Amino acid sequence: MKILLLTLPLLLFAFTTQADIVLDTNGDPLLPGAQYKVMPVIWGPTGGGLFPGKAGNSAYPVNVLKSFSEVDFGKPLRFLPLIRIGIIPTDTYLNIEFVETPEGVSSGNWVTVKDLGETWTVGIGGPQDHEGFDTLEGLFKINKSGSGYKLSFLPYVNGPMSGDIGTYIDDDRNWRLVVTDEQPYEVVFSKVEVESS
Ligand SMILES: *[C@@H]1O[C@H](CO)[C@@H](O)[C@H](O)[C@H]1NC(C)=O
Repeated sequence: MKILLLTLPLLLFAFTTQADIVLDTNGDPLLPGAQYKVMPVIWGPTGGGLFPGKAGNSAYPVNVLKSFSEVDFGKPLRFLPLIRIGIIPTDTYLNIEFVETPEGVSSGNWVTVKDLGETWTVGIGGPQDHEGFDTLEGLFKINKSGSGYKLSFLPYVNGPMSGDIGTYIDDDRNWRLVVTDEQPYEVVFSKVEVESS
């Protein structure tokens, strides 16, 4: 089984050009189901990683927030492509979820929520976690952008709410992820080594 898991990415490598495959900060292919922290491509005053936090009127951490501290790499995330595949090419439909579901939230799966005026922000869980606001479930994609990557959101229903994921600091100084047609948030993927038992 181990051999199979190791050869599959290599085989796919042979059929896809390097540029089409999403790579982590070690230069290895991003692996479906493995754990990564999503960091800004530019080190320094651009802040740190992503974590589930409270930005609205929910008592639970249902919003995807970005740390103001560059030494805070945030919480591990998983990328789950819709198709069974050993690597993640760019422009592939996938779900993104926090590995750990926070207490009081239905899941760590990313959705978008219309909780900042007309702006759709990134949150986790489902409609029940965002009472009073519209939510949209959908899929994400990773594409190259600058010297890193950007994330995009594509809702299951047809509509104008698809777009790149950018960042925005709200009036309460929460650093949110938002769906935007302006500058996308450029990121890199730092693998979290997990001990298997
Ligand atoms: C990703 O990049 C490809 C190739 O440049 C492009 O065709 C596609 O529209 C992009 N997708 C998104 C969601 O930006």
